[in-house]
Amino acid sequence: MGLSSWPSDSELDKIKKNVAEMAGVSINAVKIVVSPYRICPLGAHIDHQGGIVSAMTINKGIILGFVPSTDSQVLLKSGQFSGEVRFRVDQIQLPKHAAKSNGKTQENGSSDTMEECKWGSYAKGALYALQRGGNDLKQGITGFICGTEGLDSSGLSSSAAVGIAYLLALESANNLTVSPTGNIEYDRLIENEYLGLKNGILDQSAILLSSYGCLTCMDCKTKIHKLIHPPKYETEKNAETKFPYKILLSFSGLKQALTTNPGYNRRVTECREAAEILLKAAGKEAEPILSNVEQEEFEAHKSKLEPNLARRAEHYFSENTRVIKGLEAWSCGNFEEFGKLISASGLSSIQNYECGCEPLIQLYEILLKAPGVYGARFSGAGFRGCCVAFVNSDNADKAASFVKNEYFKVQPELASHLNQDTAVVICDSGDCARII
Ligand code: GLA
Repeated sequence: MGLSSWPSDSELDKIKKNVAEMAGVSINAVKIVVSPYRICPLGAHIDHQGGIVSAMTINKGIILGFVPSTDSQVLLKSGQFSGEVRFRVDQIQLPKHAAKSNGKTQENGSSDTMEECKWGSYAKGALYALQRGGNDLKQGITGFICGTEGLDSSGLSSSAAVGIAYLLALESANNLTVSPTGNIEYDRLIENEYLGLKNGILDQSAILLSSYGCLTCMDCKTKIHKLIHPPKYETEKNAETKFPYKILLSFSGLKQALTTNPGYNRRVTECREAAEILLKAAGKEAEPILSNVEQEEFEAHKSKLEPNLARRAEHYFSENTRVIKGLEAWSCGNFEEFGKLISASGLSSIQNYECGCEPLIQLYEILLKAPGVYGARFSGAGFRGCCVAFVNSDNADKAASFVKNEYFKVQPELASHLNQDTAVVICDSGDCARII
């Protein structure tokens, strides 16, 4: 594991103090889960179709301090949300979306109106997943959870980071040993079954498998992953590697998904419709996902698709190709090429996948003009949140001010509501989620 500058000692101390106070124990008894946010430079919206994706974590994210309870009680407080969440680990959890048909995660909008429901549901979802996996939990936790200020609900998969943090804490309190692959599946149960989002395994794979400085590549069909190391770079005195790039996050100020926009799940359904038609035309019987269609079969039969379905499939096949090329560019340290592929991916999300919204598209266009930017795209699903860019480290500050100023010109209202310290954030690569 490499060295990541997050979390700082002062962040950890704050959390430990809160938990110690809540549980009436000494600070030394408090355990900490760190669960970083993720970015996906290439491989957008193809995980749910069994495509190949690339991802990495950043040096910001979720910290959960906890101590095992003396009984089955879970008691949680949050640095971002008011109130407290209480439930027992011996209470059977049922899928939340069965009761509320369009319940959704932080990333793609939520139908919940009560703050408590919103943030408490991830802990209950983690319990649901562990119970579904046949685990009989006896031990609750007392915990305090906190996300990096200004970066929640932002397309960085705070939802998966939160879900994973609770999984790791509940597993630790109950002496369960679960592999990263096991937790990828448990987080899938939280998202797909408990919350009803038809997403793929990109987010949790990135959070559980990433390693400092590497690009994580996940084949979402075979579930085989590999870490792509960059070429060797100089190491600074404080033992941090001097990478020639920085990761730039530019926030749109859009936090709430448009409730009238069924967004994410609708696109997943369209991809499956396209796959069904293509598989039928090719005379194949298989699950209707695009990874079961060969590129040649798509080329031969795409005329049978309605134009919108043809565009979704075009995004899938072209994005898979960009991921393969991107892994090669990354391993050679060719950030110019890597960046061009990211921007092409961004364009395909706009033109073929037709996701995103005006402020995000404006941010994308501004980033492409910013000094030193290698490439940019929406981060995450693209319906709200931020855009991610790779930028030459020497130009990172200049690029950040450029983006801040230009975005203000096109979206003064949204930009003025952003915290000026976190409107554009420069960060580095991170490590995987773990207990420290
Ligand atoms: C969200 C989903 C992921 C993935 C991305 C888009 O983050 O949770 O599964 O589909 O959008 O790439």
